[in-house]
Amino acid sequence: MIHDPAAFVLAHTRLQPVPHAPEISLWLADEITPLWRLTEEELGEIGLPPPFWAFGWAGGQGLARWLLDNPAEAAGRRVLDFAAGSGLVGIAAMKAGAASVLCADIDPFCAAAVSLNAEANAVALDFTDADLLDAPPPDVDVICAGDVFYEQPMAGRVLAWLTTAASRGTRVLVGDPLRTYFPKSGLDLLAEYAVPTTRELEDDAVKRTRVWSL
Ligand SMILES: C[S@@+](CC[C@H](N)C(=O)[O-])C[C@H]1O[C@@H](n2cnc3c(N)ncnc32)[C@H](O)[C@@H]1O
Repeated sequence: MIHDPAAFVLAHTRLQPVPHAPEISLWLADEITPLWRLTEEELGEIGLPPPFWAFGWAGGQGLARWLLDNPAEAAGRRVLDFAAGSGLVGIAAMKAGAASVLCADIDPFCAAAVSLNAEANAVALDFTDADLLDAPPPDVDVICAGDVFYEQPMAGRVLAWLTTAASRGTRVLVGDPLRTYFPKSGLDLLAEYAVPTTRELEDDAVKRTRVWSL
């Protein structure tokens, strides 16, 4: 049970520009390990996933950059930011002129993080904590997925679900820095970036990150 998730986010992050999309500022943490420990204390559980919502992951930064520089991808469209984390990609879609953005993430802190980040960037974002992978993909025009191929079995579930969406005519955009479970085929390259990240999270201070359509 989280006492006050918004207060928790504000207490352990600071508002700062996203390195590869500085038009957007997010409530982000500087260090992962202390926040991870505090998250486990707050939720009274151990072995939890890391606080993904407190960082702008390379895949999300690349995809946000792509949307900001190619606003026609989102303008006037109903967009789903799947595995939204901080909501970075959804905020970029709204700044690109999306008609609406639904952010989806199963992490219990994401609703608060996405709400605070939307407010900081003066955009409106909807949010769901439902696991959308349990059902057919929703009726939206564009599905964005930033940095989702980092572990199995999630990566396999996501790829099957995104493939179903694409086969129904939904535009599917993926940002990824060649994570271990990134699919080897079936995607078209749209852009490649050198994304600044942090040695806190990654093995390199800059991650080569690509944006693809499925
Ligand atoms: C590496 S983070 C990427 C966050 C954001 N897209 C970015 O690029 O900064 C992966 C996110 O996937 C979320 N996630 C994992 N399984 C999920 C699921 N079944 N449905 C929605 N989100 C999920 C995690 O909670 C986490 O926030």
